[in-house]
Amino acid sequence: MGKCPSCNAWNSLKEFHEAKLNTKKDVSTGINLVTTPAKESSLSKQTKFSSHIHEVDRVLQEGFFPGSVILFGGHPGVGKSTLSMQIFLQQENTLYFSGEESVHQVSDRAGRLDTKKEKKKNVENSIFATNSLEDILATLSQQRPKLAIIDSIQMIGLQNASFGTMQTIRENAELLVKTAKSIGTTLIIIGHVTKSDEIAGPKVLEHLVDVVLYLEGERETGVRILRASKNRFGSTLEVGIFSMNETGLQELNNPSQFFLDQRPQNASGNCITVVREGTRNFLMELQALTVKTNFGLPRRTTHGVDIAKIHLLLAVLSKFTAFPADTLDTYINVVGGLKIKDTSLDLALCAALISSRSDTPLDPQTIILGEVGLSGEIRQVGHLQSRLQEAERLGFTRAIIPNTKETLKLESMKVSKVKHVGEFMKLIT
Ligand code: TYD
Ligand code: MG
Repeated sequence: MGKCPSCNAWNSLKEFHEAKLNTKKDVSTGINLVTTPAKESSLSKQTKFSSHIHEVDRVLQEGFFPGSVILFGGHPGVGKSTLSMQIFLQQENTLYFSGEESVHQVSDRAGRLDTKKEKKKNVENSIFATNSLEDILATLSQQRPKLAIIDSIQMIGLQNASFGTMQTIRENAELLVKTAKSIGTTLIIIGHVTKSDEIAGPKVLEHLVDVVLYLEGERETGVRILRASKNRFGSTLEVGIFSMNETGLQELNNPSQFFLDQRPQNASGNCITVVREGTRNFLMELQALTVKTNFGLPRRTTHGVDIAKIHLLLAVLSKFTAFPADTLDTYINVVGGLKIKDTSLDLALCAALISSRSDTPLDPQTIILGEVGLSGEIRQVGHLQSRLQEAERLGFTRAIIPNTKETLKLESMKVSKVKHVGEFMKLIT
């Protein structure tokens, strides 16, 4: 062609040859791999540093591993910014990047939180309000802080890029992780969890990070539970328990007492059980309400336990006892707004249902523990001894438990063992 069809210039076309594709596969022979001699392994020498918040350290198993990346998820408003700010205030050489609030708002929150005064000194120079990932990366590389907090991954992004989409969230997190690893900064990345628990944002990041923490709890009740769902540097067994008040998240040192404090006197449908989380036991109040179904199918709702569990327990009760489950609307609540997965609360749920239905309060000094099987049998629960000790410590005098061969060492607590829900029904009514 004499004339270029694109720019209309004459005789401007030049001939060129396509580069040949390299068809031989480039497979590394392995000689370029680097290993660290065991002697010099820095990993074993590095020790974790404390967050100075006992319950956070408990969940992280003694604190932050230097240079690790922590994803911190939870529903909006649960208290992620608050807890992160509390951690921030306890540490030297820490930066806080907020993409959600202005510097003024963030410092105002810092001022209200209940931490030692002298730690608040350099707050102005280490809080940044920005949505720009470029700025954050540059500041991190320049200042190389010991710890940095990103609030939140959904609210930061590269200039001229859209943010909040799954793809960009993952790419942005990758950039942050890469930078943090290269400068040895410990990084906390906050991520919001969506309503449906899908965790649209944070879930896709879990494989990128070393530790995944979730803060859960109902906004109204004030109780918050911090759990680790992944931890490259320790177990994920332990939970941290907090209560939210005017001065931020306070550690709950005696959770059992806290959960039992507002217990109504002589109310039917209430039952106390001992729930185990990590290596701790605490007493928990369960409430059931049963009312006659007016028309159609009975209504069943739960708060704090899986609805499938209630369907199952009602089925077992109606099959093996005289409990008329199919004519009753049933409402279940775990006081304090916690979500309990421990199967040891089955029997206590049955007790609460039976008590509500017959409108007779259970003995307030009795705790009930046991898993209920499909044939109505009552199954063992783990750590009976320590659970019962916790109940005894709080003044409970009687326990109804599965039929166990374990010898229990208790001071004065009376123990009744039951094998089947039929037998249990007779015992409590
Ligand atoms: P926040 O940490 O902003 O939640 P997230 O970052 O997870 O979205 O916490 C929000 C709630 O916490 C808010 O509704 C008010 C409450 N709160 C307190 O009760 N006391 C306090 O000291 C603070 C800072 C917040
Ligand atoms: Mg927030």
